[in-house]
Amino acid sequence: MCGIIGYIGQNKDFITKQMINSLKKLEYRGYDSSGICLLCDSEFKVYKSLGEIKNLEQVANYNVLSHMAIAHTRWATHGKVCFENIHPHTSQKGNWSLVHNGIIENYEELKLKYLKDVSFYGETDTEILPNLMEKFGFYETLKLLKGSFGICAINKNEPNKMYVARQHSPLYVATNNNVSMVASDPIVFADKFEYYTPLQEQSYAVVEFNKVKFFDFNNEEISPQKHKLGVFEKSAQKGNYPYFAEKEIKEIPRVLENVIENYEQTPYLEKIDYNFLKNIEKIYLIGCGTAYHACLMGEKYIEKNAKIPCKAFYASEFRYSPPIINEKTLCIYSSQSGETADTLMSLNLAKEKGAKTIALVNVPYSSIAKNCDIILPICAGMEIAVISTKAYSSMLFVFYLLAKHLENIKNNKKYDKNIINNLKILKKCNFLKNINKINKFVNLINNNEKIFFIGKDEDYITSMEASLKLKEITYINCISIPSGELKHGTLALVDDKSLVFVTATNKDVLDKNLASASEIKSRLGKIVLVTNLTLSKQDLKNVDYLFTFDSCPMELSSMLAITFYQYLAYKTCISKKLNPDKPRNLAKSVTVE
Ligand code: F6R
Repeated sequence: MCGIIGYIGQNKDFITKQMINSLKKLEYRGYDSSGICLLCDSEFKVYKSLGEIKNLEQVANYNVLSHMAIAHTRWATHGKVCFENIHPHTSQKGNWSLVHNGIIENYEELKLKYLKDVSFYGETDTEILPNLMEKFGFYETLKLLKGSFGICAINKNEPNKMYVARQHSPLYVATNNNVSMVASDPIVFADKFEYYTPLQEQSYAVVEFNKVKFFDFNNEEISPQKHKLGVFEKSAQKGNYPYFAEKEIKEIPRVLENVIENYEQTPYLEKIDYNFLKNIEKIYLIGCGTAYHACLMGEKYIEKNAKIPCKAFYASEFRYSPPIINEKTLCIYSSQSGETADTLMSLNLAKEKGAKTIALVNVPYSSIAKNCDIILPICAGMEIAVISTKAYSSMLFVFYLLAKHLENIKNNKKYDKNIINNLKILKKCNFLKNINKINKFVNLINNNEKIFFIGKDEDYITSMEASLKLKEITYINCISIPSGELKHGTLALVDDKSLVFVTATNKDVLDKNLASASEIKSRLGKIVLVTNLTLSKQDLKNVDYLFTFDSCPMELSSMLAITFYQYLAYKTCISKKLNPDKPRNLAKSVTVE
């Protein structure tokens, strides 16, 4: 959510191209607008553009020499998408320029109190920051701020320093002998640096070309830990795929292997032992969006296998209408980015109340990973497309292993690495079986006005995720609903322009699902049955179209079923000539509330 870059070098160079290339790596964080400010002979040269970074490439000047620059790609929160609101923002006096990710919650108050003499050109909360710095300096300004921020600021009169700060918004610094860089994701540092340092929560840093000094908000110098750049941070390449979304869906079998290999090599689950679980009476699973759907599936896996009461929560609900949380509660946080603000704040809340915590995360260096008692990596590799696909599948793999492990612990057994064998069965399956038939279903979606996804139990959760995927990248207004709920209201929407995807992986409730299908049929809706069950002619009586995916044990079926829907959403998006990697109004890694 908003990408930030800062650069300071020993010597002047033509750095515009490098800044823009670095910015492109952060485009997944927002693409409403982008901008760059270069310090050139005591003057700021600023280039800005609306829309994707390719537009900035057209207007930026590549022939200016500079040794220091900041850049930003925006996902609009405060202030609409317009030229005036593009970062970097410069103070009215013109000495400070900065880029910001986050929300300054008290900006109206600060504006009224200290900045009555300033005429603002835009509507963002950010614009107060360089103006406050003109009056109070960098550190004193930080002390005034409420809310979340990752900031990188430069001052014309201090050409050898860059100022950066973080509160609830990730920021990283890397340095070598002649260049230092700042970024809101360390993937920017790949190929340039060997090590990087995450800014600690509520801290700031003064960055020079060859050294960085870190301070906490009490102005005490601190020494945060350096990290070596790992394979994860270096893996953000699209290869020969037209879009990251397609690459990431097709990587799912590889991700399964990664999970199996990683959990075989490192017994991550071993730490969740009898002592850790002693006294735990309830498990809450918390996430947002797709990660929340993974939590719903986790809830099913754990309750069915380990028989421990579980409940999944949207992180935003968990924060503001929390259930009973105490030392007898285990909270599991599921997040691809590990930085989602609502999930992170829910984690802080649970920790305050003494709950035990587990992170099920993809980004190993993320805030959620760092702040939980135990980390269960989902090993999906870097996910760049805004839609979460392989990370969802991977969350299901890990939740499933966790459920099997909890079952053992509940039965007084020790960690048994053979639980991984349960997942190995999936290795023999073809996640994309029959996918060559997908265009038929894309056409059906394009030729109908209303799209529904229904199912029961785990298949209902698959329906929820299928519906989210489709609406996210095709902007089709679709609905997911438990099949048994249709007749309690939503059936009123069904007519001859309706297409209903029925997911069915459970033989025991097949007749119930098919009964719902007949209700839809009698209202002239069309049925697509998505299943890996063996069906009779009678079963197919009300089915207009059939998609069969690979067969596997029922408890693993949802892990296969979702790939069909992910790819269906992707192909429908392509058929509409939309960009699946950058859906409108959205950004990956939602670091604001
Ligand atoms: C959906 C999607 C979002 C994220 C949600 C949580 O495709 O990408 O719904 O799943 O914003 O993000 P993480 O998993 O990073 O916490």
